Amino acid sequence: MTDFENLLKDYRDQVNKALQEVLPSEGSLITEAMRYSVLNGGKRLRPILVYLSSNLSQCEQQAKDLSACAVELIHCYSLIHDDLPSMDNDDLRRGNPTCHLKFDEATAILAGDALQPLAFELICRIDIKEKTKTLILSKLASASGFSGMVGGQVKDIQMNDEVTVEELDLMHFQKTGRLIQTSLEIGGLLSNLEEENINLLNLYGEKIGLAFQIQDDIIDIESPTSVSGKNQGSDLNQNKITYPTLVGIEESKSKANKLAEEAKEILVPLSEKADNLRLLADYVVNRNY
Ligand code: IPE
Ligand code: IPE
Ligand code: MG
Ligand code: MG
Ligand code: MG
Repeated sequence: MTDFENLLKDYRDQVNKALQEVLPSEGSLITEAMRYSVLNGGKRLRPILVYLSSNLSQCEQQAKDLSACAVELIHCYSLIHDDLPSMDNDDLRRGNPTCHLKFDEATAILAGDALQPLAFELICRIDIKEKTKTLILSKLASASGFSGMVGGQVKDIQMNDEVTVEELDLMHFQKTGRLIQTSLEIGGLLSNLEEENINLLNLYGEKIGLAFQIQDDIIDIESPTSVSGKNQGSDLNQNKITYPTLVGIEESKSKANKLAEEAKEILVPLSEKADNLRLLADYVVNRNY
């Protein structure tokens, strides 16, 4: 493994340990469904972004861990709901039956519902300046809500084949990019980065967020189920409008690579401090799961 791969593994181990601790474990149906849908692997990209950006400067480990858990809980809630019969109707997630199949639909809806406020509760527990905390809460709320992830999911459902590339970009940015971008921003806020550097993280996050969802669309076509842990061809089976269906697979790949290069360009002023974020941009577009 490369040093960077080892770092990703360390961050994953770190957040997995923290998630074990913050998730309720009373053994009830709802808490079992919550744990099932969070403690089941996953790349932990959003927590990794919190760690990478908060490590650009100084910050308490507790603040990093709670924030990393919070963004992952929002993400896991979005995945449970995304898989529901009324949405993507998928039966496999991270190589396991989706939450609504393992449990039932009502439990899956409620498990997602319960993970979301828990994320905000975790941010409230962080021992930082109230002003920073309020800002983080509002950034996370906005990235998750009607103009962020939920808004993007609404567009995803409503998409038809008259959509333009610009509209598709906006949908991708909202449903996936905003939470990715906000994870970076939260790390920057936790470590009190200067505003100009937070702005750089935001620009970088916009690029890799879009690239991440384009790569997700490519993975749906190209990655075997055994690799991705999701059903290969799920988007095609449901006639989803995706980057490859709109512009073709080769154009999608070159767009994702171009975005990763642009993202790395943005980091130039941060010099070698941002080397891991540069490697992460490459990881986003080279991954096959
Ligand atoms: C899948 O996200 C859904 C998208 C927002 C594209 P990930 O590819 O990060 O899924 P996990 O967390 O690794 O399972
Ligand atoms: C999901 O996009 C984005 C979310 C906000 C959950 P997809 O529907 O493409 O994600 P996968 O492919 O099911 O993971
Ligand atoms: Mg979807
Ligand atoms: Mg889906
Ligand atoms: Mg997908």
